[in-house]
Amino acid sequence: MAHYQQVGTVPAKRHVQFRTDEGGLHYEELMGEEGFSSDSSLLYHRGVPSAIVDSRVWELPDLTTTANHPLKPRHLRLHSLFDEAAAEKADPVEGRRLVLGNGDVRISYVVAGADSPYYRNATGDECVYVEAGTGVVETVFGALSFRAGDYLVIPRATTHRWLPDGVVRLYAVEANSHIAPPKRYLSRYGQFLEHAPYCERDLTAPTDPLLAEGADVEVLVKHRGAGPGGLVGTRMTYATHPFDVVGWDGCLYPYTFNVEDFEPITGRIHQPPPVHQVFEGHNFVICNFVPRKVDYHPLSVPVPYYHSNVDSDEVMFYVGGDYEARKGSGINIGSVSLHPGGYAHGPQPSAIEASLGADRFEELAVMVDTFRPLELGEAGAAAEDPGYAWTWAGRGPGHGDGGPAVYSNS
Ligand SMILES: [Fe+2]
Repeated sequence: MAHYQQVGTVPAKRHVQFRTDEGGLHYEELMGEEGFSSDSSLLYHRGVPSAIVDSRVWELPDLTTTANHPLKPRHLRLHSLFDEAAAEKADPVEGRRLVLGNGDVRISYVVAGADSPYYRNATGDECVYVEAGTGVVETVFGALSFRAGDYLVIPRATTHRWLPDGVVRLYAVEANSHIAPPKRYLSRYGQFLEHAPYCERDLTAPTDPLLAEGADVEVLVKHRGAGPGGLVGTRMTYATHPFDVVGWDGCLYPYTFNVEDFEPITGRIHQPPPVHQVFEGHNFVICNFVPRKVDYHPLSVPVPYYHSNVDSDEVMFYVGGDYEARKGSGINIGSVSLHPGGYAHGPQPSAIEASLGADRFEELAVMVDTFRPLELGEAGAAAEDPGYAWTWAGRGPGHGDGGPAVYSNS
């Protein structure tokens, strides 16, 4: 994010004496990526940012995974995972349940109404899509308000906490790497180019420091270790409040981007999924399919052709409208489809004829494509619709073969 911001009070030069009103020194912290060789920000604390008074184990939720074997496409109904009454007491960090994951990225889902603890993810950046609800995320850089359709991009090791305003539904993409706009959208110095579907004006960063005060503040840290998925957790207690920053500047900070601000790229014939890309991380991309005018060649077929992405597993999260290509499959709002590498996928046959002559698609979906195979987390396994794999043929185990009716074509 080579998009410089300055918030609060910072000294005229970096790395010089910067005194408080009482005459003491502020404590300068550089938060930077790739060993002083990439984006960074300088934060000015009232307290010592490394002063901890305790460190204990934080037991992470179940992060074990099961391989997609025997290989098949999957349909996961995320809205079946959480009971609303229980969700009010869950929080957006500890309540996350693992849907899919691999060695590069994990996708979790949570429905939660309680404030989260202070938290930071030291394994990688997080990109959290807000399916529903509003609230505020407080961070060491300041506060970000959020609403449905927002992506919150939170850099690795950013201490923050979630304060939902009522129950929220969050789809959390946790990387082991950084998450950023695609390089091809940016100039060599990092400015968004004219062909990009969004630009700096569409990103919202914190505008004021929180100037928090307090002592003995516990922060939950997710970090690399020998647990499932290569992750473990630690509870660190800080002598002074981590949000005691009076000002910061730089190019590394959390921000929001709302999917409504993504300007779709359309054409006379079908445009390939990279035109829908919004972010990228190491070994995965994030795309979104937004309401748009569809292909306008007189003989165009608006739904996608069958495709075999030989290098990718594709995960689609259906969050709004009608998803045209999946008609007749049982896919609905709150569904996730997993179409793995090594398997050609495309529309349910009835959706092709039904799409001819369409002018617009009123669909909204978030897609994650991974370059290494995804495995099912405990929530993915718990939410599976077992009949989905057979919906193109209309028959298969338990579906159209005289076996038990396990699939509802709703
Ligand atoms: Fe696809």
